[in-house]
Amino acid sequence: MDKKFLIQEIIRLKQEKNAVILAHYYQNEEIQEIADFIGDSLELSKKAQNTNADVIVFAGVHFMAETAKILNPDKKVVLPDFNAGCSLADGCNPKDFKLFKEKYPDHVVVTYINCSAEIKAMSDLVCTSSNAAKIIGSIPSDKEIIFAPDKNLGSYLKKETQRELILWDGSCVVHEAFSLDKLVEIYNKNPNAKIAAHPESESHILKAAHYIGSTSGIINFIKTDPAAVFIVATEAGILHELSKAVPEKTLIPAPSTEDNTCACSECAFMKVNTLEKLYWCLKNESPEILVNEPLRIEALKPIQRMLELS
Ligand code: 13P
Ligand code: SF4
Repeated sequence: MDKKFLIQEIIRLKQEKNAVILAHYYQNEEIQEIADFIGDSLELSKKAQNTNADVIVFAGVHFMAETAKILNPDKKVVLPDFNAGCSLADGCNPKDFKLFKEKYPDHVVVTYINCSAEIKAMSDLVCTSSNAAKIIGSIPSDKEIIFAPDKNLGSYLKKETQRELILWDGSCVVHEAFSLDKLVEIYNKNPNAKIAAHPESESHILKAAHYIGSTSGIINFIKTDPAAVFIVATEAGILHELSKAVPEKTLIPAPSTEDNTCACSECAFMKVNTLEKLYWCLKNESPEILVNEPLRIEALKPIQRMLELS
């Protein structure tokens, strides 16, 4: 389909249906360009909480759109491709998580927002990468904590917060694939560069980083730090926003190991969404995200606690 036509139609349909397009920074450039708002997971949750739109087109992955629906039961939430999953969310199924929780009955359960509504409903608190340390810090020090599903973010939080967290064994296929050897090779060729990494990355990558933070945290760091060259260890989608914001800076995506399936640090789940699928989902108001009401009420509680603390 002609790109110009798609853009015109998306703009027209958006007005006709009072729809808003929320996009994560990992979406492809065309989607970022047409979105009403681009953000990291926390910013998108806040935006979803406050929107006056009747239809939310969530250009991201399933758990993000589902979170928007949990916050907006009366609005229609659609996702361009229903197969936009996430290795973290998919790697933590409710049956196994229930058994895991039962081993630690007195622990406070904190889950990363990258999980399903069922897992959220079994949690005391939800967090994102930008508020995780704050959320852990809000828990009284005499309480023990389970953290799921990201073991890499969890290990980072253990160091940051000095708390003994029991970790679920999950990881992000994109952030886990960065190659330290290749990162060091690039850094040796650019010794004045700063390395910025997402905390979903493994600890050896984080040890090498000058800055660790969420997607928006990394963007703000690169915008404000005086260095001229940055090596960016997160999904390559953020380079679009950065190349517009700081065209004078050199941005080098951190390389992945050769044998991984997500070459070039791209999240295959995020990238299943396309401009054309976005057009069809807005036009047909489908695929729609639905969450049954008893589950939604339980999943909402830890999200609301997070938003109150953020
Ligand atoms: P943030 O948006 O919190 O940086 O998380 C990144 C991510 O992997 C989302 O799936
Ligand atoms: Fe999930 Fe990783 Fe993709 Fe984010 S980048 S959606 S955590 S697989």
